[in-house]
Amino acid sequence: MNGRGILVGDVSLPGRALLAPMAGITDAPFRGLAEEFGAGLVVSEMIASANLVARPSKAQHREMVRKLEHRGKLPHVVQIAGNEEKWLVLGTKIASDAGAEIIDINMGCPSKKVTNGYAGSALMRVPDRALRLIETVVNAAKVPVSVKMRLGWNEENLNAAQIARSAEGAGVQMVAVHGRTRQQFYKGKARWEPVREVVEAVKIPVIINGDIIDPASARKALTESGAAGVMIGRGAQGQPWLVGQIGAALNGSQPQGTPSGPVLLQLILNHYEDMLCAYGKELGVRVARKHLRWYFGAAKLELSRETSRAVLTEASPEKVKVLVREVFSRQEEVAA
Ligand SMILES: Cc1cc2nc3c(=O)[nH]c(=O)nc-3n(C[C@H](O)[C@H](O)[C@H](O)COP(=O)(O)O)c2cc1C
Repeated sequence: MNGRGILVGDVSLPGRALLAPMAGITDAPFRGLAEEFGAGLVVSEMIASANLVARPSKAQHREMVRKLEHRGKLPHVVQIAGNEEKWLVLGTKIASDAGAEIIDINMGCPSKKVTNGYAGSALMRVPDRALRLIETVVNAAKVPVSVKMRLGWNEENLNAAQIARSAEGAGVQMVAVHGRTRQQFYKGKARWEPVREVVEAVKIPVIINGDIIDPASARKALTESGAAGVMIGRGAQGQPWLVGQIGAALNGSQPQGTPSGPVLLQLILNHYEDMLCAYGKELGVRVARKHLRWYFGAAKLELSRETSRAVLTEASPEKVKVLVREVFSRQEEVAA
C-alpha cells in the first residue's frame, strides 16, 4: 500500500477502488468516464492472445486496436488471456507495443469459449501450467504483471492462495480475486472471507472483487478479506461514477455527486457520441443500447414500453438522441 493508493511493482495507483475488466463493456469510452470520476485503475477488455495473432481479419484487427486504445492519465493496463506460451509471449509484446504499463493475465473468465482452451479460469485446474504461463509473461514483460483469478475451479479446489503464492514467487505484482469459483459462474453470492487466505499467503497487494456495489459493501469486503483494494464490475454499469465514489468513500475524501437531470443527460449524450466515434455509426448504435438501458435503469427513469423499445431498436443515432432527450424532458414534466 502506498498512502491512499496501491503500488503494483513500481506503478502507483491513485486509489483503492478499481474498475474490473468487462468484455464488451469497459471499452475506451467507458474507461475514460470511470477515470474522469476518480477510478483508481481501469483495465482493458480481455484480449485473447490466440485471436490477436492468428491471422486476424480486418475486423478483428480493428477490434484489437480499439481494445488497446488508451486515454487519460491512469496507468495503461492491458488484460491478456491465453493457454500457450507462444500466444502469451506475442500477446505480451502487442500489449507492450501499445504502451501497457501493467499486463494483467486473465485466470478468472468462466466462459466455455475461453475455458475449453485451458485459458481463463480453467488454468486454475492446472496450477503447474498456470505457473509456467505466468513465468512466461513475467519474463516477456518489461512492466509489472498482475493476475485476475477466482477462488478456484470448484468447491473441492479452492486453490487461489496456492496459485497467488506461486505467482508472487514468479514475480507477479498484484492479484485480484473474484470471490466465486468457476463452477459458480455468476450464481449465488460472492464470498469475500475466503480471500483472506490469499491475502495472508502473499505480500503483494490483493484486490477483492465480486458483488461490490456501494461503499458499504466495499468496506465489508475489505474487512472480511483484508484486501488492499476493491474491484467493481457490474455495479458500474450505467453508473461509471460509482468506482470513483467508492474510492473516495474508502479514503474519507469528498466523492463527486451522482449526476442527475440535465447533467446526466449531457453525460449520456457525450458518452453516446464517444461510442459512435469509437465504433463507427452502425456498430456504435448497437453497442450503445445496453449502456442506455443501464443508465435508464440506474437513474430509475420511467420509460413507456414504446419509448423503451424505440430507444433500444432505433438504427438512426440522431433519432436515438432525440428520444433520449424526450425521456429526460418527460421526467422533468413529471417532477414539476
Ligand atoms: C459482461 C462481463 C464481461 C466480463 N469480462 C471480463 C474480462 O474480459 N476479463 C476478466 O477478467 N473478467 C471479466 N468479467 C468478470 C468481471 O471482471 C468481474 O470479475 C465479475 O463481474 C465479478 O465482479 P462484479 O460482481 O463486481 O461484477 C466480466 C464480467 C461480465 C459481467
